Amino acid sequence: MAKKSPSFTCSECGAVHTRWSGRCDACGAWNTIVEERPLTEGAGALGGKRGAHVPLTDLASEEAPPPRTCSGLEELDRVLGGGLVPASAILVGGDPGIGKSTLLLQAAARFAEAGLSTVYVSGEEASAQVRMRAQRLGLGKAPVRLAAETNLRDILSTLEAERPGLVIIDSIQTMWVDTVESAPGSVSQVRAAAHELVTFAKRRGCSVILVGHVTKEGQIAGPRVVEHMVDCVLYFEGERGHQFRILRAVKNRFGPAAEIGVFEMTGGGLAQVTNPSALFLSERGQPAAGSVVFAGIEGTRPVLVEIQALVAPTPQAQPRRSVVGWDGQRLAMILAVLEARCGILFAGLDVYLNVAGGLKISEPAADLAVAAALLSAREDAPLPPETVIFGEISLSGALRPVGQMENRLKEAQKLGFTTAIVPAGGKGVSVAGMATTEMSDLAAFVGETFGAG
Ligand code: TYD
Ligand code: MG
Repeated sequence: MAKKSPSFTCSECGAVHTRWSGRCDACGAWNTIVEERPLTEGAGALGGKRGAHVPLTDLASEEAPPPRTCSGLEELDRVLGGGLVPASAILVGGDPGIGKSTLLLQAAARFAEAGLSTVYVSGEEASAQVRMRAQRLGLGKAPVRLAAETNLRDILSTLEAERPGLVIIDSIQTMWVDTVESAPGSVSQVRAAAHELVTFAKRRGCSVILVGHVTKEGQIAGPRVVEHMVDCVLYFEGERGHQFRILRAVKNRFGPAAEIGVFEMTGGGLAQVTNPSALFLSERGQPAAGSVVFAGIEGTRPVLVEIQALVAPTPQAQPRRSVVGWDGQRLAMILAVLEARCGILFAGLDVYLNVAGGLKISEPAADLAVAAALLSAREDAPLPPETVIFGEISLSGALRPVGQMENRLKEAQKLGFTTAIVPAGGKGVSVAGMATTEMSDLAAFVGETFGAG
């Protein structure tokens, strides 16, 4: 029998290599290739030995929902799916300086005051620094216990002895596992540290929140596997120059993903924004060409945002297509549909699109609002004031109905809007005080609104 040669697998992307190397050719990650021992033939992976009998239950068996602890910061509790679940592991990612430490220190104080024994481990700042920050935030009296430590063995021994209900690790990139040889922050260190902490969380029923820095490419630095290990992945986003911060659930085993919490960075720390629409629209001036209000849904909440477009002639053969807060591919699609279905050309024109307030929109329901902003900018014609717009555009130029129409219209009505341009076929949803104009395709919308087409 020919002996199987060992194979080498990248633990980051799973690519199989014939020999070891420092860098995976497939995904470009460093130091992730590990040797996998081949199975002995015939016996199978378990060597043919019998195991114990595992008791099976059925889906119908009653399971009490996990008792959650609420921090009282509603914007945070909602993103967590209704409070913190015991023994859960949460990863909070975000750019350096965006406010992760501030958010988690505030959360730690709230959870501690709610009766959860809380330990905050900082690998980046000295205890005195954290204490000073807490005093500045008015949290000096909160019963949070602090440690400034990076050695994971010491941290875990301390936690085994102290048995807290919640531990915050700020940040996972600074943690150091002494059995792994590479430097702190490297892929293997981050993975090993996260693994130890998540295992501890499950074994001891202690919730763990890991802070993770994000790389320039927008991913949590270190291996993607950390995202698979934890129960929740939250991203803390926002523009550095802007005061708005958005906490977004991108994965949640205990609640809806895509839920957002909105905060404002103030001199006294992060303040909750309970009415984000009002905040996102607060910077809107007089109705101007290229400005459109989109009635969107973020998670379970309706949110109104302003979409701004600028269209300007350019001598360049390749005009610019610049997008902030919306998908560039989707913009290209909408420009193509406008050209092909409505005969409106954007050749020779630079196009800039911006979602005001630093929110990132991923809903296709914003298509029509984006198209309206582009047309309004191109024609230099402001849209009627007090109007919101939403609807998905298909490649044929038809407008598709979108979900949660009633919620969108109600939110618009609440904020003083009186008319809405919506796709036809919305099952006759109507909201008192809102006049809706139904459109079945983009060409009709262009003709009706701009008298062109
Ligand atoms: P920080 O929480 O340290 O960011 P991270 O942990 O994500 O790196 O936040 C740093 C920024 O927040 C810093 O630029 C100053 C600002 N900030 C305020 O504006 N107000 C405050 O009360 C605090 C504590 C920080
Ligand atoms: Mg920090």
